[in-house]
Amino acid sequence: MADLMEKIVSLCKRRGFIYQSSEIYGGVESLWDYGPLGALLKNNIRNLWLKKFVQGREDVVLIDGTVLMHPKTWKASGHLESFTDPLIECKKCHSRFRGDELAKKKCPQCGNEELTPTRQFNLLFKTFLGPVEDKAHVTYLRPETAQSMFTDFKLVQESQRLKIPFGIAQMGRCFRNEITTGNFTFRSREFDIAEIEYFVEPGKDEKQFEVWLDNWERFFLGLGLKKENLRRHEHSKKSLSHYSKRTVDIEYKFPFGWAELAGVANRTDYDLKRHSQFSGEDLAYFDEEIKKKYYPYVIEPTMGLERALLAILCDAYTEIKGGRTKTTKAAKEIEVVLKLNKKIAPIKVAVLPLVKNKPELLKKAREVFEILRAHFMVRYDEVGSIGRRYRRQDEIGTLFAVTIDFETLKQEDVTVRDRDTMQQERIKINKLSEFLNKKIR
Ligand code: GAP
Repeated sequence: MADLMEKIVSLCKRRGFIYQSSEIYGGVESLWDYGPLGALLKNNIRNLWLKKFVQGREDVVLIDGTVLMHPKTWKASGHLESFTDPLIECKKCHSRFRGDELAKKKCPQCGNEELTPTRQFNLLFKTFLGPVEDKAHVTYLRPETAQSMFTDFKLVQESQRLKIPFGIAQMGRCFRNEITTGNFTFRSREFDIAEIEYFVEPGKDEKQFEVWLDNWERFFLGLGLKKENLRRHEHSKKSLSHYSKRTVDIEYKFPFGWAELAGVANRTDYDLKRHSQFSGEDLAYFDEEIKKKYYPYVIEPTMGLERALLAILCDAYTEIKGGRTKTTKAAKEIEVVLKLNKKIAPIKVAVLPLVKNKPELLKKAREVFEILRAHFMVRYDEVGSIGRRYRRQDEIGTLFAVTIDFETLKQEDVTVRDRDTMQQERIKINKLSEFLNKKIR
């Protein structure tokens, strides 16, 4: 299975999904750049999330808060005190590890048995606001997007005239100075979170928790993840975050084992109460219907976009031994098909002229390319044999390959090849956009 992870990492680099950040300088651990295909894929996940939970719901609104916030935010939220992981250091090679992940009392790096006692390490990235680098100007890069949805709670609720229950959604950059890294992008130090704070009347929180957990799980199935690769993990009281009454993780079966993909937490009224206390601004809500003032409880479905992307890549990666075309040459080969869901595949259609040395064919192919790119993300490719080009497109998950051949010049039609079935159909150019649209939407 580790082998599978290596293959995925290699594909990601080779085909432009994910690269190590600042690679020309030797790279930086746990920082990743998303290349041309990775960036499109990530955007497609974002858009699906927006479509389902913001566009698709009358009771959820989107905000876009800052990464840097007033330093008091992090005191009130409890992150300054409690956003820690247990840290153990090897006294010999000074490698650092998460105490909860160290199986034996032995340094996994050099084998030395002399380790420091566990201490709590705060994961917040510290920085300074303004030109003076002193204690008074210290602030932190946000480790979650949630907090501005609490600090802006009243502004959003009043300006949008929202009534409980309602949700505020946000996605954006978050930073955590993680101790253990590795497993590719799984534990990055900079990543995007997409989360919703759903505000409910106290007492109605437990029921809403179940509703959101179902919603949230369905979202991941909708991204195309296989059901057997998803499971729920109920946190024990001991492993709950400082703000949570109940958390259920949605775990994915990554090649390196089951691990958290996303989660739903019942944050109770912890955050609104703490911000009221620390800011002096009363964030309680007056419920007109029951004529009662209260601090709403909060149900929070959350996910890391990069984790979702990694799970999607692992799930879609398919090797076909002996090749799909079953030629003698292919018998020894392994073909890779990235069976990405049609809604999130970065490239929907590839336009391929059958041969490169016929100018009329290339001209026609460019015409078809121009027609299609008005509707879809399309790639044009004229380099190499047609078989090789199909395989290149399969490897990045392109849904359809449109081939322009000699018949096209006579009949104004093209061959459309389906990535998964490899079936080919002749379609008239003037019907092509409509045909593909029906298949892709
Ligand atoms: N507001 C709640 C919150 O931040 P979390 O479980 O700490 O909860 C939310 O993080 C999601 O962010 C996780 O479910 C996971 O998908 C993702 N995530 C957390 N740490 C991450 C990291 N170091 N790298 C990539 N994704 C991460």
